[in-house]
Amino acid sequence: MTSTDTPENPASPNPAAPDGAQDSARDGAPVMLALHQTALGGPDVLRLTELPRPRPGLGEILVAVHAAGLNPTDFKHRALSIFLPPPPLTLGWDVSGTVVETGFGVTLFQPGDEVFGMLPYPYGAGSHAEYVTGPTRAFAAKPAGIDHVEAAALPLAALTAWQALVDTADLRAGQRVLIHAAAGGVGHLAVQIAKERGAHVTGTASAPKHGFLRELGADVCVDHNAEDFTDTEERYDVVLDALGGETATRSVSVLRPGGVLVSLLAGADDTQAAAEKAQVRAVSLLVEHDQAGMRAIAELVDRGKLRAHVSGTFPLAEGARAHAQGETGRTTGKLVITVR
Ligand SMILES: NC(=O)c1ccc[n+]([C@@H]2O[C@H](COP(=O)([O-])OP(=O)(O)OC[C@H]3O[C@@H](n4cnc5c(N)ncnc54)[C@H](OP(=O)(O)O)[C@@H]3O)[C@@H](O)[C@H]2O)c1
Repeated sequence: MTSTDTPENPASPNPAAPDGAQDSARDGAPVMLALHQTALGGPDVLRLTELPRPRPGLGEILVAVHAAGLNPTDFKHRALSIFLPPPPLTLGWDVSGTVVETGFGVTLFQPGDEVFGMLPYPYGAGSHAEYVTGPTRAFAAKPAGIDHVEAAALPLAALTAWQALVDTADLRAGQRVLIHAAAGGVGHLAVQIAKERGAHVTGTASAPKHGFLRELGADVCVDHNAEDFTDTEERYDVVLDALGGETATRSVSVLRPGGVLVSLLAGADDTQAAAEKAQVRAVSLLVEHDQAGMRAIAELVDRGKLRAHVSGTFPLAEGARAHAQGETGRTTGKLVITVR
C-alpha cells in the first residue's frame, strides 16, 4: 500500500479520505491527495501525498476525479525521464469526473457537468489525484450509459486507436487490418473501432485471449506465442503496431502496396527503408488531446459500438499495486484507479 506523505513531512500519515477531500485545507488553502513521486524508480516511489489543490487557469476546468485510467506511459514515466522533466511528478492522463470550477473564458462546461478526457500529452499529466485541471477541449461530456470507471478507461487508449485507424489510416469498409497486441488497452478498442467501420480484423494475442478478441468482433486471431504473423498469404491495408522494434519492420511485409503501417512505438532503424521498398507508408503516432476524437468515442459508446473492458480497479492509495500489475505487460483491456 502507498503511504501518505506531505511535502513538509514526508512520512506523516494523513487520515483524510478522498471523499472528505472537498473540505480539506492547509492554512486556509485547499489541498488534495495525489499519487506523487519525488524520484524515478519502481512502483514504491509512488506516495499518496497531500498537495495544493490546483486552480483552473484561462480556458481550463477543475475536475473532481472519480476515476483515472492507467496506461503503459504511466509506468514508463514513473521509471524514466522520457518526455517529462524529472520529478516531482504526479502522473495520469486519463480522467473521468465532475467539473468543480471553470476558468475565465470557458463556455462549454459548467460546475456539475460529468466529463471524461485525456489531458494534453505529454506535458499535462496529473490525473492520479483527487483533482486535476486541464484545457476545456481535452474533455467531452461523459456518456450517460457508462460509469466513471469505464469512462476513465477510454480516453488515451481509445483516442490512440481512433487517431491511428481513422485520422491517420482512413480505414474504410471492406479493408483488412492487422492489430498487434489486440487484447491490450489500445488493441481491444481498436478492434471495436475497426469493426464499426466495416473492416475485416485480424488481431494478435496469446491463445487464452482469443475468445475475448472474438467477442469484440475480431475475424481472425493469431497466437503470437505459436504463430508467425508474417507466415500468411494475407495482405493488409492497415497494420496498427503497438509493439515496435522488429515487429514494425516485419509488418511491412504483410501490407499491400499503398498500405499504411501506424506504429505507436519506435520501430527498428530499417523500417522506413523497408516501407519505401515495399511502397507502403510507415508513420509513428503520438496521441494528442482531441475534443473531436473524444466526442466521436462518446458517440460510439452511446450507440453501443464501443465498450472498455476493465480487468482491474485499484483505489488511489494502492496506485503502486496498479503500476506493478500493469507493467507485467499482460493486461487484458484496462486497469483503472478509483478516486471517489
Ligand atoms: N504512441 C502513442 O501515442 C501511444 C499511445 C498508447 C499506447 N502506446 C504504447 O503502445 C503499447 C501498447 O499500449 P497498451 O495500452 O495497449 O498496452 P497494454 O494494455 O499494457 O498491452 C497489454 C497487452 O499486450 C499484449 N502483448 C504483449 N506482447 C505481445 C506480443 N508479442 N504480441 C501480441 N500481443 C502482445 C498482451 O497480450 P498477451 O498477454 O496475450 O501477450 C496484453 O494483453 C505500449 O507500449 C504503450 O506505451 C503508445
